[in-house]
Amino acid sequence: MSKIAFLGLGAMGARMAANLVKAGHAVTVWNRSPGPVAGLTDQGATAAATPRAAAVGADIVIAMVADDTASRAVWLDGRTGALAGLAPGALAIECSTVSPAWVAELAAAVAATGAAFLEAPVVGSLPQAQDGKLIVLAGGEAAAYDQAQHALAPLAAAVHHVGPVGRGAVLKLAVNSLLGIQLAAWAEMMGFLGKAGFDGASVLDILTTLPIASPAAANYARMMQAGDFAVRFPVDLMTKDFRYATAGADAVKADTPLADATLRVLEDAREAGHGAENISALIRLYGGH
Ligand SMILES: NC(=O)c1ccc[n+]([C@@H]2O[C@H](COP(=O)([O-])OP(=O)(O)OC[C@H]3O[C@@H](n4cnc5c(N)ncnc54)[C@H](OP(=O)(O)O)[C@@H]3O)[C@@H](O)[C@H]2O)c1
Repeated sequence: MSKIAFLGLGAMGARMAANLVKAGHAVTVWNRSPGPVAGLTDQGATAAATPRAAAVGADIVIAMVADDTASRAVWLDGRTGALAGLAPGALAIECSTVSPAWVAELAAAVAATGAAFLEAPVVGSLPQAQDGKLIVLAGGEAAAYDQAQHALAPLAAAVHHVGPVGRGAVLKLAVNSLLGIQLAAWAEMMGFLGKAGFDGASVLDILTTLPIASPAAANYARMMQAGDFAVRFPVDLMTKDFRYATAGADAVKADTPLADATLRVLEDAREAGHGAENISALIRLYGGH
C-alpha cells in the first residue's frame, strides 16, 4: 500500500479519493475550500493544509481539479504547490481534464524535480467514479504507467496506455467532443420535434430504440425530456472541454467545424445562465423546460 496525496475533492475527486481509502492506501487529502474535507477524513483520510504539505512524504500525488488554471495552482504555486513538496522518486498523476498544451508544460515542470509524471484523464461520470469503474486514458512513460497501476486500479474498470504525455488529453477531449456534439444535436432536435407538435416522452420511446441513439445520448435525452438538470457534469465543464479541444485541434491544423459549432451552443447556454446546470440543460435553449 502507498502513501497517496489526493488534491481536489469536487464531485469526481471526493469519490475517487474515497475509493483509494477503501483500497487501504494511506491517503492525505486537500481541497481549496474546506467543505468536502470532513467527508474524507471521516472515512480515514488525513487532511493537509496545502497541496505542498499533502505531497510531502507521498509516493504518489493525484490531482482532480476543474481546469488548467486549477491544475497550475495546485501543482506549481511557488508557496503552496505540490511540486515544492514532491520527493524525487515520487509519481505525480494529473487526472483532471486539461489541455494538451498545459499537460506538456506540467510534465516538464515535474520532470525538472526528478519525479515521474503520468496524465490520467478519466472517462465516466459520478456513478463510475463512485463505483471505481472509470476508464483511464493514460499518457506518459511506460515506467510511470507501471508505477501508477496500484493507485489507478481502485478507481478504474480499465486503464489504457494511449501514448506519451499529451495523447491522454487529446483522446479525452475527443471523447467529450463526441459526447457534446451528440447532446447539442439531441437538444436541438427535441426542441424542433416539440415545436412541431410531438409529445416528448412518446417520441423518445421511438428515437431511443433506433440505432442512431448511442446509449449516452439516449440517457441524456431522457434527462432533457424529464427536466432532470441535477448536476453531474455541468455546462461550464463541457464548455471548458470544447475550448481545449478546439484549441488543441487548431494546434495540429485539424478542422473541427462541428466542435466549433457546439462550442458556440455551449457559450450560448452559459450566456443564458445555464453554466452551472447539468449538460442536459442544453434543452432549455430550445424551449424545453
Ligand atoms: N463530472 C464529471 O462527470 C466528469 C467526468 C470526467 C471528467 N471530469 C473532469 O474532472 C475534473 C473535476 O470535475 P468535477 O466534476 O469533480 O468538478 P467539480 O465538482 O466542479 O470540482 C472541481 C474541483 O476543482 C477545484 N478547483 C477549482 N478551481 C480551483 C483553483 N483555482 N484552485 C484549486 N482548486 C480548484 C474545486 O475546489 P472547490 O471545492 O474549492 O471549488 C473542486 O475541488 C474536471 O477537469 C472535469 O472536466 C468530470
